[in-house]
Amino acid sequence: MAPKIILDCDPGHDDAVAILLAHRHCDVIGITTVSGNAPLAYTTDNALLVCQLGGLDTPVHAGADRPLLLPPQHAPRAHGETGLDGPPRPILDRTVTGRDAVGFIIETVRTTEDVWLVPIGPLTNVALAIRQAPDIVERLAGVSLMGGAIGPGNVTSTAEFNVWADPHAASIVYRSGVSVLRMAGLDLTHQFCVDQSTIDRLASQPGAVPQFVAGLFDFYLAGYRERAGLSAAPLHDPCAVLAVTHPELLEFTARHVDVETTGALTRGMTVADERPGTDAAPNCDVASRIDASEAMSLVVDALCSYA
Ligand code: RIB
Ligand code: CA
Repeated sequence: MAPKIILDCDPGHDDAVAILLAHRHCDVIGITTVSGNAPLAYTTDNALLVCQLGGLDTPVHAGADRPLLLPPQHAPRAHGETGLDGPPRPILDRTVTGRDAVGFIIETVRTTEDVWLVPIGPLTNVALAIRQAPDIVERLAGVSLMGGAIGPGNVTSTAEFNVWADPHAASIVYRSGVSVLRMAGLDLTHQFCVDQSTIDRLASQPGAVPQFVAGLFDFYLAGYRERAGLSAAPLHDPCAVLAVTHPELLEFTARHVDVETTGALTRGMTVADERPGTDAAPNCDVASRIDASEAMSLVVDALCSYA
């Protein structure tokens, strides 16, 4: 039976792929949006646009337009001002189902068994839901998030964007006591990259989705090529979906992980206790390896299935 999930996202090029992948392997009960790669208005419209292109009727609920305590931060260098720059943008003919993502998360988890929360942006919505309704934690099948890093960060030398943008929210989630917490951090997602051959494969496929995603990847890869001279770009967010749908493609290590919320140099750092024989009880399954070839086949097949 397909896992039931709520996908909490900030589209975002890789979020868009995660949305399309999730709908081929999960029962997506709802999509919730959060300020992150772009302001909330953009991430919400982007989620609606991806659903429109994919012919998906999943409800989209807008959530937090800013982090718990810090000012909003965005990532226009990676995703453009709209959060989904690159291909020509079709006219959006959808509207948001609701503007209380936190209430939707709480109500859904309280009335539905075995729901996974799959946050792939800043964790503001998830943290607010846990803070407002702590009872939902024990009802969850788990949380599978894209965020953090055991090694170097991306937005700073120590922090990954999703956790850095709202470290206070991330701390609430890592400390929540949820029975299953899977973390797809940068050290994993940088093993899972899109390159020109993937783009060419998608561009050769008919249909709005493969063509649109090929355009997204063109923009996304060009940014990594210009900024860092790379010929492949990490596809972060689909890893959090695969950790639920295809965990056999990943390797996990149980670790105690907590989040730095105040450090001048380390704000947003996910601190994993890797000391041999540590007495720190693990709270997180850190994904350390992915079968990138098999995972990319799954993603490309899912995208081409919309042709
Ligand atoms: O650091 C990568 C994460 O930040 C991804 O979720 C990407 O979409 C951005 O939100
Ligand atoms: Ca994201």
